[in-house]
Amino acid sequence: MTDTTLDEAAVAAAWDRNAETWAQEVRNGLDLYRELYTFPAFLSFMPPIAGKRVIDLGCGEGSNTRRFARLGGIMTGVDLSSEMIGCAREQEEKEPLEIAYEIGSFSELSPLADGEFDVALSTMALMDGPDLSGALKAISRVLKPGGALCFSVLHPCFVTPAVKWLTDSAGAHLGLRVGRYFEREPFIEYWRFSRRDGSEQKQGTEPFEVPRFPRTLSDYINSVSDAGFRIVKLEEPRPSEELARKHDWLNRWYQHAPLVLFVLAVKA
Ligand SMILES: C[S@@+](CC[C@H](N)C(=O)[O-])C[C@H]1O[C@@H](n2cnc3c(N)ncnc32)[C@H](O)[C@@H]1O
Repeated sequence: MTDTTLDEAAVAAAWDRNAETWAQEVRNGLDLYRELYTFPAFLSFMPPIAGKRVIDLGCGEGSNTRRFARLGGIMTGVDLSSEMIGCAREQEEKEPLEIAYEIGSFSELSPLADGEFDVALSTMALMDGPDLSGALKAISRVLKPGGALCFSVLHPCFVTPAVKWLTDSAGAHLGLRVGRYFEREPFIEYWRFSRRDGSEQKQGTEPFEVPRFPRTLSDYINSVSDAGFRIVKLEEPRPSEELARKHDWLNRWYQHAPLVLFVLAVKA
């Protein structure tokens, strides 16, 4: 797949295809990385949102948006995929949390007014769109002066296009090989949530089709600061020691490298 074919229309179409299974599996707690590691760490990292107007960028089917709403955020969720937003709205009807959902690109945010939000949150989505610097500029526009941006992405230094775990002959993890760090060619990754809880793999389920837009650490940091933000804090969270002892698949991320990067910045 070449660069030009992975535009926002292609990204939206891929996530439209993923939406039904994604929503079902995330809601059933099958995204164990999210449940055990990345989301609890993000909650400890992000600023307080109670009573604040908050936008969730690339909100998907809205599981995290609903969690933010339960913390008191007055939430708007935006996603490129109409199917994802359809799933989110369906859930909002069943379990109203006063969340507004918009179909659209976080690199545009055109239906939203300047300075409408106190906080912009995004979990594991900004790496999935083709125009990062456009996204940071659009986010800056919809935030009030002094408003906070807080996001998570796959760690650009470690989850590179040629990432591979290195193991010894007994299968113990020795380290992580990173490779092709500087390549920015978009590609499609196919994967499923692993059934690490021992439950059955659903027969016939197609893997998710995830367009990826690899970037370097400086791409992220410079796009944030070029859009007029002041970086307050970065975090490279580790799974807890207790979880690392319990689960070998988390122990690798405890011992060797962080899976995700968190950034907190304020609009200057
Ligand atoms: C890995 S999912 C994460 C969804 C959600 N934040 C979560 O943590 O469950 C990435 C999401 O980003 C959305 N996305 C990708 N590019 C986007 C863009 N330019 N604007 C808005 N959403 C986008 C996709 O449609 C998908 O729903």
